[in-house]
Amino acid sequence: MTDTAPVAGTSVPLVEMRNIRLAFGGVHAVDDVSIELRAGEVLGLLGHNGAGKSTLIKILSGAYQMDSGEIRIDGNTARIESPRDARRYNIETIYQTLALADNLNASANLFLGRELITPLGFVDDAKMEAETRKIMARLNPNFKRLNEPVSALSGGQRQSVAIARAVYFNAKILIMDEPTAALGVHETQMVAELIDELKRQGLGIILISHDTREMMALCDRVCVMKNGQLVGTERVEDVTEDDILSMIILGKNPREAA
Ligand SMILES: Nc1ncnc2c1ncn2[C@@H]1O[C@H](COP(=O)(O)OP(=O)(O)OP(=O)(O)O)[C@@H](O)[C@H]1O
Ligand SMILES: [Mg+2]
Repeated sequence: MTDTAPVAGTSVPLVEMRNIRLAFGGVHAVDDVSIELRAGEVLGLLGHNGAGKSTLIKILSGAYQMDSGEIRIDGNTARIESPRDARRYNIETIYQTLALADNLNASANLFLGRELITPLGFVDDAKMEAETRKIMARLNPNFKRLNEPVSALSGGQRQSVAIARAVYFNAKILIMDEPTAALGVHETQMVAELIDELKRQGLGIILISHDTREMMALCDRVCVMKNGQLVGTERVEDVTEDDILSMIILGKNPREAA
């Protein structure tokens, strides 16, 4: 990866979701939505409660299966029918709940369900701790509390453990649903720095948040959804926060002539 931001239109997108539909009974949770994500890009999903944001990303992470549409990864049609399929495409998801085991330390959490094993078949705690030190040094050098249960960590530190887990297992596409919702200002800043670092490393990141201002700061482009439909996708440098707010509220793109 170079550290030059990819120029739109010059490379195959990392992810293309085309004409995605999923209904639950009569509810069109995702209604003909198309988005694309490029390497080294942070793409934001915005919209009111029930807009369809989580449903859309759950289709990409294999938690839900779409009724129709197409997903392409690196230009090729992808079959994602389970979370395991998604991992095969190096898609990792961090849900708001983080899915950390509170009573275990950072290293045990990082390798939870994917433990490193010695040649004799034992869980290799020393190796896992060394690997955890390495990745945390890269992602969050201030993080030193490797031997405490994660219940003793701050929200931001817990978030960095969850992110380290995704990155360690070679995430190329990272999905974060409300990563800063429960965090204070300082912690949110820490997660923002982590996201910047991952972006520099060339990951593509899909971010969901209700905080429009924060999204304008973190994202390269934002997609606004309403009632399952895509209202529009904008580069943050081309729009104001008010433009985005009116897209969220009115479901209309102010830049398109009425
Ligand atoms: N498993 C499900 N079964 C039935 N309906 C669902 C299911 N998941 C989502 N829905 C419905 O689909 C619609 C979209 O929900 P979704 O969770 O994707 O919204 P969201 O944009 O993530 O909202 P929020 O901001 O509240 O997280 C809602 O009407 C919701 O009730
Ligand atoms: Mg949601």
